[in-house]
Amino acid sequence: MDIKPLTGGLGAEIFGADIRRPEDFEAIQGAFASHSVIVLRGQSARPDDHLAFARRFGAINVNRFFKRVEGHPEIAMVLKEKDQKEAIGEGWHTDHSYDQIPAMGSILHAIEMPPYGGDTLFISMGAAYEALSPKMRDFLDGLWAMHSSRHVFGTNTLDSEAARSGRLGNATAAKQDARHPVVITHPLSGRRGLFVNPVFTTHIEGLTLGESDAILAMLYEHCKQPEFQCRVRWQAGDITMWDNRATWHKAINDYHGFRRLMHRVTVDGVALS
Ligand code: SIN
Repeated sequence: MDIKPLTGGLGAEIFGADIRRPEDFEAIQGAFASHSVIVLRGQSARPDDHLAFARRFGAINVNRFFKRVEGHPEIAMVLKEKDQKEAIGEGWHTDHSYDQIPAMGSILHAIEMPPYGGDTLFISMGAAYEALSPKMRDFLDGLWAMHSSRHVFGTNTLDSEAARSGRLGNATAAKQDARHPVVITHPLSGRRGLFVNPVFTTHIEGLTLGESDAILAMLYEHCKQPEFQCRVRWQAGDITMWDNRATWHKAINDYHGFRRLMHRVTVDGVALS
C-alpha cells in the first residue's frame, strides 16, 4: 500500500489498498487519522462492500434527505443528471453539522463520473484555526454557534431543482437545530479546529446578528485560502473518506451536460466539545 499526501494542508491518496480486505483496514484507518481526507484509488466495491467498510469505523448514520440507493437504504445517492443544473453539496459545508451529534465522517464512492470536472474540494479546519492570530483564537474559544437543516432541506426549498427532481426529499423532517462550540477539540487527535460552516451555521450565540454575520464572513474568507485546501480529482471506482470534524468540503459543479453519480455512506460521530 502506498500513501501519498495530496498537499501540505490535508489529504492523502492511497494506492494498492482494497476496502474489502480486513488486513488493509488498520493502515487505512491510520491514514484517515493523519490526513483527514483519504482517497482510495481504484476500488471494485459493491454497495455491500461500501457498507461493510463504513461499519468498521462505526454505526451508519442514515441521511434523512438524500434519495437512497434502491435495495440499500443506508446509502445516499449524490446525483446530477446531464440535463440538471444544480449539484448537491455545491456550497462549503460539513455534513450533518445540524445534528446534535454530527456524523464522524462520510465515505463517497464514485460510480459514474463525467469526462472532466466534478472534483471535490476540502479545507482543513485545524490548519485554518492555527493560522488565526492568538487574539482571534482567544476571542473564538468558548463561543457557541447554532446550526440548522431547516433553510437547506426544509419545506421552503421545495422549489429547488434538487427537490423537484426527487434527489432531495423528506423536507418536513428538516427540524434539526444544533448548538456546537465554534472551536472544537478533535475527538481523536486532540487538535483544535473551527467548527462553523457557510451552509448550516446560522449564527454565533451572544453576538448581535450583525456581529455574528461579520465574524462568520471573516472566518469563511480566511478558511478558503488555498494553503488549507486539497482537491480530489475522481476516477470512477475511487472512494474518498473525510472527517467531518476536521474539514469542510464542496462539490465543483463544472460538468454541465454530463451525469455524475456517487454513493455516500455517513458514519456516526460523538458530541463535540
Ligand atoms: C457531499 O457534499 O457530500 C458530496 C460531495 C461531492 O459530490 O463531491
